[in-house]
Amino acid sequence: SAAEKGGYDYFMLKEIAEQPKAVADTLLGRIDAAGSLTLDEVRIPASVLREVDKVVIVACGTAYHAGLIAKYAIEHWTRIPCETELASEFRYRDPILDPRTLVVAISQSGETMDTLMALRHAREQGAKVLAICNTNGSTIPRESDAVLYTHAGPEVAVASTKAFLTQLVACYLVALYLGQVRGTKWGDEILSVIRDLSEIAGEVEEVLETMEPVRELARSLADKNTVLFLGRHVGYPVALEGALKLKELAYMHAEGFAAGELKHGPIALIERDVPVVVVVPSPRGRSVLHDKIVSNIQEIRARGARTIVIAERGDEAVRPYADHLIEIPATPVLLQPLVATVPLQVFACELATARGNEVDQPRNLAKSVTVE
Ligand code: G6P
Repeated sequence: SAAEKGGYDYFMLKEIAEQPKAVADTLLGRIDAAGSLTLDEVRIPASVLREVDKVVIVACGTAYHAGLIAKYAIEHWTRIPCETELASEFRYRDPILDPRTLVVAISQSGETMDTLMALRHAREQGAKVLAICNTNGSTIPRESDAVLYTHAGPEVAVASTKAFLTQLVACYLVALYLGQVRGTKWGDEILSVIRDLSEIAGEVEEVLETMEPVRELARSLADKNTVLFLGRHVGYPVALEGALKLKELAYMHAEGFAAGELKHGPIALIERDVPVVVVVPSPRGRSVLHDKIVSNIQEIRARGARTIVIAERGDEAVRPYADHLIEIPATPVLLQPLVATVPLQVFACELATARGNEVDQPRNLAKSVTVE
């Protein structure tokens, strides 16, 4: 009913709007007065976490994209090797697991069969499993050694939005906590990122307030056949997520690429007027990547593509090559997906509406897939 949708036309719009609160709620009570993380609820003793020598993340769909981003954060802040794998592929390839492996299973519903089978396999091999889940008491957390709940509240729309942002927050918390417990040379950075995380809900809100041009742009592209997405570093999984949203909702051909791979194939797809969304890393910090992606944008624009550029506010270097510029607030490099994903959700939702599609219940998809 309209009341359940809180005055929005679709659950998806309501859930996109709820993201600042979902992010804040997921951080609530997990940062102490001294600015350190308190994740005692995870109940895996620090002594066990200090012994972990490999992290393996398993998940499906949007949760898998959160896991891909987590890999960057975990390896950077903890120096523990981390791999992220589609849950449906995991157990069929005889993965190497032992009691020092920490498997992180990410699932909004906690009922996805592929993810459940992956975690059962991991536990059989003696690995410890930590679930990141949005549904209290569901099967995946019940069968795991430990759980870190996301507090997105119930997510009704099939396409995941607020659950994704909270999965990212939970992944950052796990990465930072592992770093904190084990002590790494990034101690100061970890403290400053924890501080930045507490501001991030406000930044997501800021993005939401500036989405009208994105909706307008989406409507203008309703008759296109293809949209391509490029990103690099943590922007690469964001590109994959942007493409997935568009497939799920707009039923359009959409593909996400690592920008560095452009020259190894995808550039052959660039022709006049193809919309290409580019997620640009911050010009601060890892600026080498920023410069490389700016030259990617130049290359595709020279071939006539229509460039839709998501870049940090004040990034003047991209402006001359952006047919459409979507500005997002500055964040620490690894946290950028929390703000960069939001315009892509709005874009897909509006494009789907413009094409007359059912936003909350896309054809052929289910909110929770309980068969393998
Ligand atoms: C389904 C949904 C996706 C979701 C995926 C994983 O395919 O349609 O939106 O990302 O399952 O769901 P989970 O509940 O495990 O996060």
